[in-house]
Amino acid sequence: MSYAADSGVCLDRILASTDLSGLSKKDATTFTRRLKAHFPRLFDKYTHVYGHQYDCYFHLQKLVEILRDGVKNRKPALKKLDNERLKNPFWYRDEQQVGMACYVDLMGPTLNDLQDKIPYFKSLGVTYVHLMPLYDAPKGDSDGGYAVSDYRKVNPTLGTVKDLEKLASALQNEGINLVLDFVFNHTSDEHAWAKAALAGEKQYQNYYYLFDDRTIPNQYEHTLREIFPQVRRGSFTFNEQLEKWVWTTFNSFQWDLNYSNPEVFNAITSEMLFLANIGSAALRLDALAFIWKELGTNCENQEKAHVLIQAFNCCLQIVAPAVVFKSEAIVHPDEVLKYIDKDECQLSYNPLLMALLWNSLATRKTRLLTRSMKKSFSISENCTWVNYVRCHDDIGWTFDDAVANELGINAFDHRYFLNQFYTGRFEGSFANGVPFAENPSNGDCRVCGSLASLCGLEGALKANDLKGIDDAVKRMMLLYGITFSIGGIPLLYSSDEVGKLNDYSYRFDESKKHDDRWVNRIAVTDEDTELALGNTSPSNATEATSLRVFNELRKMIGIRKQHAIFGQSTTQILDTDNHHCFAFLRENSEGHKLLVICNFSEHSQSTQRILLATLKGASSQDLLTGETIEMNASPLLLKPFQQMWLLAN
Ligand code: GLC
Ligand code: GLC
Repeated sequence: MSYAADSGVCLDRILASTDLSGLSKKDATTFTRRLKAHFPRLFDKYTHVYGHQYDCYFHLQKLVEILRDGVKNRKPALKKLDNERLKNPFWYRDEQQVGMACYVDLMGPTLNDLQDKIPYFKSLGVTYVHLMPLYDAPKGDSDGGYAVSDYRKVNPTLGTVKDLEKLASALQNEGINLVLDFVFNHTSDEHAWAKAALAGEKQYQNYYYLFDDRTIPNQYEHTLREIFPQVRRGSFTFNEQLEKWVWTTFNSFQWDLNYSNPEVFNAITSEMLFLANIGSAALRLDALAFIWKELGTNCENQEKAHVLIQAFNCCLQIVAPAVVFKSEAIVHPDEVLKYIDKDECQLSYNPLLMALLWNSLATRKTRLLTRSMKKSFSISENCTWVNYVRCHDDIGWTFDDAVANELGINAFDHRYFLNQFYTGRFEGSFANGVPFAENPSNGDCRVCGSLASLCGLEGALKANDLKGIDDAVKRMMLLYGITFSIGGIPLLYSSDEVGKLNDYSYRFDESKKHDDRWVNRIAVTDEDTELALGNTSPSNATEATSLRVFNELRKMIGIRKQHAIFGQSTTQILDTDNHHCFAFLRENSEGHKLLVICNFSEHSQSTQRILLATLKGASSQDLLTGETIEMNASPLLLKPFQQMWLLAN
């Protein structure tokens, strides 16, 4: 059976009965042209998941109407952007791109205030701003906004949708891309759909996974991972009002949506298009690994989860082709890769690089990093990594056990060591971190903490240890330097750029104290930004360090932007003869080459100059110091935590 032929007949029928009279002539033409181009794929995906249901065609027709309305509601400026991005689809591979993720309230504190921070973003070189969830959410604990009660309403403490649109276009005018969250695995229990379900409406009860007793939940739980065991055991919550068990992968107030129901797919598509039409350049697909449930599996990374995301991607291509998807799959590295495709997610977080940078900092060794990156760094040329060091969540040690085994590392013991090291339970550790989500059944645990505290700044400042402070800053620069140079969009986590320490105040807040991730959700105040911008002077060691961190990051970002090699180039991970060193080679189609060599140890290290042979020149220049490095027989010396960005002469 040829799906292409079937989809053609299907589309003709749907179009014959779809009213396009609300669209301008131009929009109607664009819409039909894009539908013709992408409908075969959409049809294929949709029928793959829903084809066995008797009313599949009915829902598909409804979906086309939702897409039509999406086109109708898209503003002219965004349609213009669609055309520009269709001509230059790979903007996200450009060396100019540098991202920052922040909470509106921790930096604004409102959307309008955030507009005043545009000069700050620009001074650092930021071209991509991810605003953490800002939608209406339950008062008190809302999982930092990741429990959404209304996708079309901004949390009133932050502003309104109008303010958000204003900010989106102000950012766009300054060449800054806005990234918003698409939290589609679950809604809060206060979303209108959940409320209707609670009121007993069958239609909306089918939007979620509800069970009369524990029989089926027990069957699923055999193979499920517990995400937040510190707040509730298992993945289901008993709801007194419904007298039913609700599937709640994350917190009890976050109800998983039931994607086996095509009505849910359609309804959430409509919400997604609303977010796209606000003026976002990318949508961050929150917790996308969890959207499909299959008995007997861990219900993560299921084949149909991929098919559904591809179907969402088709919808976006039809209505808002300027918008790309960013995958937030914090899972096994092999599974992370499967979401990355131009027809699925064009961008993806790189949790493996993130975790292994921290691993190398703790062990001072690079073999796990090198081996893992050799295996997993390379992705399709049409896509790009979003490389980060810290974010608003915990650090999970998601490396591949098999790769660790090849190196003789016992994965279980090693994770135990990393947790001990970063939570101050390991003698001699420089880090001040906090354990997160300790699982009493299997001892599993993850780590929270700010960049600066995990790199040793907190302890060093307290002890007034100048060498310790210097080492901490060098560690921070080493990690960020790699995200700036290895290939992909570097994503700064706001408060890192001014080296803020852990914020323990959450421990006194009833709605936060059970969730230690709040230790690394830190305000960047006007005092911080004024200091960073040089409008005030530092008055103590903490402030002086903060300014130093900001200036050093800004300098590296500036260098990144001056050289095309940091953009569309290949990355080859190299072996070195020193197990404290990590190296990679970038190469672009014009034959330019960049060699990066990093020392993860607090001692000087040397490596054979043979690495320089990859540059194929007699000499090269270190972009970070301006120094010329000659090709000769003596070993190459790296200072403690030094990185070299060597551009072939
Ligand atoms: C993502 C978010 C995290 C949230 C979870 C559930 O992992 O980053 O903060 O708790 O999804 O929405
Ligand atoms: C999940 C991740 C988990 C992460 C959590 C948020 O998506 O799999 O590792 O910690 O979200 O905290």
